[in-house]
Amino acid sequence: MAPFAKLFFSGYPHMTLLQLLTQRAAAAFAKAGAPDAAPLVQAASKAEFGDYQINGVMGAAKALKTNPRELATRVLADLELDGIASKLEIAGPGFINVTLSDEFLASRVLQQQDDVRLGAGTPHAETVVIDISSPNLAKEMHVGHLRSTIIGDALARVFEFIGHNVIRQNHVGDWGTQFGMLTAYLFEQESTQPAELALHDLEEFYRAAKARFDADAAFADTARDYVVRLQAGDTRVLALWERFREISLAHCHAVYAQLGVKLTPDDVMGESAYNDDLPKVVADLKAKGLLVESQGAQVVFLEEFRNKEGEPAAYIVQKQDGGYLYSTTDLACARYRDHTLHADRVLYVVDARQGLHFQQVFAVSRKAGFVRPELVLEHVAFGTMMGKDNKPFKTRTGGTVKLVELLDEAEVRAFDLVTSKNPDMPEATRREIAKAVGIGAVKYADLAKHRTSDYVFDWDSMLSFEGNTAPYLQYAYTRVASIFRQAGAVDEHAPLVLVEPAEHALALALAQLPDLLQQVAAETAPHFLCAYLYGLAQKFSRFYDACPVLKADDAATRASRLRLCAATANTLKTGLSLLGIAVLEEM
Ligand code: ARG
Repeated sequence: MAPFAKLFFSGYPHMTLLQLLTQRAAAAFAKAGAPDAAPLVQAASKAEFGDYQINGVMGAAKALKTNPRELATRVLADLELDGIASKLEIAGPGFINVTLSDEFLASRVLQQQDDVRLGAGTPHAETVVIDISSPNLAKEMHVGHLRSTIIGDALARVFEFIGHNVIRQNHVGDWGTQFGMLTAYLFEQESTQPAELALHDLEEFYRAAKARFDADAAFADTARDYVVRLQAGDTRVLALWERFREISLAHCHAVYAQLGVKLTPDDVMGESAYNDDLPKVVADLKAKGLLVESQGAQVVFLEEFRNKEGEPAAYIVQKQDGGYLYSTTDLACARYRDHTLHADRVLYVVDARQGLHFQQVFAVSRKAGFVRPELVLEHVAFGTMMGKDNKPFKTRTGGTVKLVELLDEAEVRAFDLVTSKNPDMPEATRREIAKAVGIGAVKYADLAKHRTSDYVFDWDSMLSFEGNTAPYLQYAYTRVASIFRQAGAVDEHAPLVLVEPAEHALALALAQLPDLLQQVAAETAPHFLCAYLYGLAQKFSRFYDACPVLKADDAATRASRLRLCAATANTLKTGLSLLGIAVLEEM
């Protein structure tokens, strides 16, 4: 290892490649007379531009009214990259191309492998609250909550991995007027069958309760009476509600288990939890002078949001009948996340169609001083999952697709696929592979798209072993893993020496993981991790084609290449696990 690289690692263990290069470039810009310029360092867009490009010279030259090529020459002369770069060159009007040295890259890769966070640990740990999954308990979980669950899970894992303190909050819809109807109906049903049985199919139960509510005025009266009693804390109605809630939550946790997402009953902090706080929220808004009575309701008018008529939007916090709303709960919730959970950043992983709601929640919370000004509130919006007809995903009969059924189908399809490829494999093994591949495929297909876009749910493409899919990556991992089964004893401390271009390219990709994870966290966008892993697998493939590993010319090359294989396997496995996707040693 070059002496400088050693120094670098002991002195700046937390710097990613981009941070390091940016810092060095900024120092060179300052020496060259452009201290305020943004160096604009980025990974090279093409291999012929080296590994990194410094693109800030043109902007800086314009601001200083000097010649960009001349400024580039001065920056380059001041660029302190000894022991880091092997080649620096000026290209075009004033781009600076940087090629990292093989020794530096090799030491970077090995250092990274020695670190449990793979070099991605953040020096600024924050408390990040993630509003995740948040289904409504009155009904069965449907595909709309799939996206919140798996995007939220992937983000939570990434934030945790890089060292943040993550608090998952499953903001389930477990309160509100429909629970009057549901508990009243549960009471009736319980005289003939146990609650678990009556609530076996929540969708069915809801339909039946609603039908009864619409058809029978006496029952509708009882249901309304139950709402009042529930809100007043009547022990008998409350007990019914609790039973309903528990059974419905059990359905959710069965889905989480099948999906392999990290969500426990302790993460549930539903709407009902804020119930006692709602009168206080309204009183506090009033005390702040923000509340106006409008048509009997209590509202906050928001000048910055205009309705279709051009009037300020009304954010309703209390209805004419005194009842509170989803919007009231979210104010109490924002305050709780700040004051009690001490969040630095709150991510609401919720359908894009609730965008306006969240902008208004954030605006009212800030106006009312319910949250500190420095608290970061973000709606991590996602698009709609579409069917092949380009309409929101529905069953053939137009009903909402139940998540359990979708996941079961994924496993069945994957099982058929695995069986057709490996008919002689023991059935238990095929089932195990099918579970990882089927669930992995559903998750990956979702995570690989930019979260804000709508996407078409398509079994065939997500289960394909070619392209940017879970099966492709899972298979890539088993391929690397299989090398170690054939390799026999491996020297885990062998030096890593990069010689071939394909080795350099693979090592560079491995060393870029920390930057990538920073980007995923900053932009709350897991699809960058998917694209990264896909690229890594392709680079591995190129390396493996170009550079014999087990049959390398000499023992030192073989040992070095095996270290590269081990780093790749570890990075693929870790990356997939951050997406919540399992890998298999064999498939
Ligand atoms: N239960 C809501 C729904 O299914 C989502 C809740 C999102 N979180 C929140 N804090 N409002 O639409």
